[in-house]
Amino acid sequence: MEKVDVEKAMNELDSWVSKRGNGEYVPKNFVSPAFSFYGIPANFGIQQVRAEIKDFAHVIADQSYNHNTSALEVGLGYFGSTHFLWRQLFDKVTSIEKSHDRVRSFGENSRDFYNKWIADDGKSSFLIGASNDVSTLKKAYDSLTGGVDMLFIDGDHRYEGVMADWLLYNPLVGKGGIVAFHDANASVDSCGVPDFLEDLENGHIDGKNYELSKIIKSEDAGIAYYIKE
Ligand SMILES: C[S@@+](CC[C@H](N)C(=O)[O-])C[C@H]1O[C@@H](n2cnc3c(N)ncnc32)[C@H](O)[C@@H]1O
Repeated sequence: MEKVDVEKAMNELDSWVSKRGNGEYVPKNFVSPAFSFYGIPANFGIQQVRAEIKDFAHVIADQSYNHNTSALEVGLGYFGSTHFLWRQLFDKVTSIEKSHDRVRSFGENSRDFYNKWIADDGKSSFLIGASNDVSTLKKAYDSLTGGVDMLFIDGDHRYEGVMADWLLYNPLVGKGGIVAFHDANASVDSCGVPDFLEDLENGHIDGKNYELSKIIKSEDAGIAYYIKE
């Protein structure tokens, strides 16, 4: 595939995010509400800090693949804004999302953005269901027979949720592909990502020590990744 233009992709994403939710990225100093909070947190247009997702887009652009590229994401989110970005950076994108409504909304929001229906253009695929449901798993392995070049885990943030997603979908990532986790630096107790990543680094998951690179430019989000050998 052609080398991707990160600036152009980020400009597109800025335009998309400005029309979703409160129109903003997550601010660097935002801290997720505690488990006991029963209010409605701000409806950011993307669940990402701009500086972090931009640096991660550069990591993707720096990998050179001489084949059509493919990404798999667990967790589409309210507005599918990371799916929108992966569409700019990969030839094909699959998102696994348990909420049917969020998938429908992405179809409608992208129609409004492009003035045409693009959710059936062959570039985007959506697997509706829990990522750890056996039928979702089978659909993913049936449809991604060539593997993927990037896995972005951003669904169930409990320790066991991240662990399951990594165990189930990391085998789909080919050599030289990227395995990434969002919320590597989350502080809220209910988020198990940092603890899972520590165990992955220490060899406590499958006996191997994974060397993680971390993009952390915020108080409470962050992206960790490794390139598969
Ligand atoms: C934090 S949001 C994703 C945000 C999105 N990647 C972004 O940056 O805009 C997490 C999403 O994962 C979905 N989700 C949570 N657990 C899941 C699971 N086990 N399988 C599929 N989707 C899941 C939720 O419904 C939610 O839409």
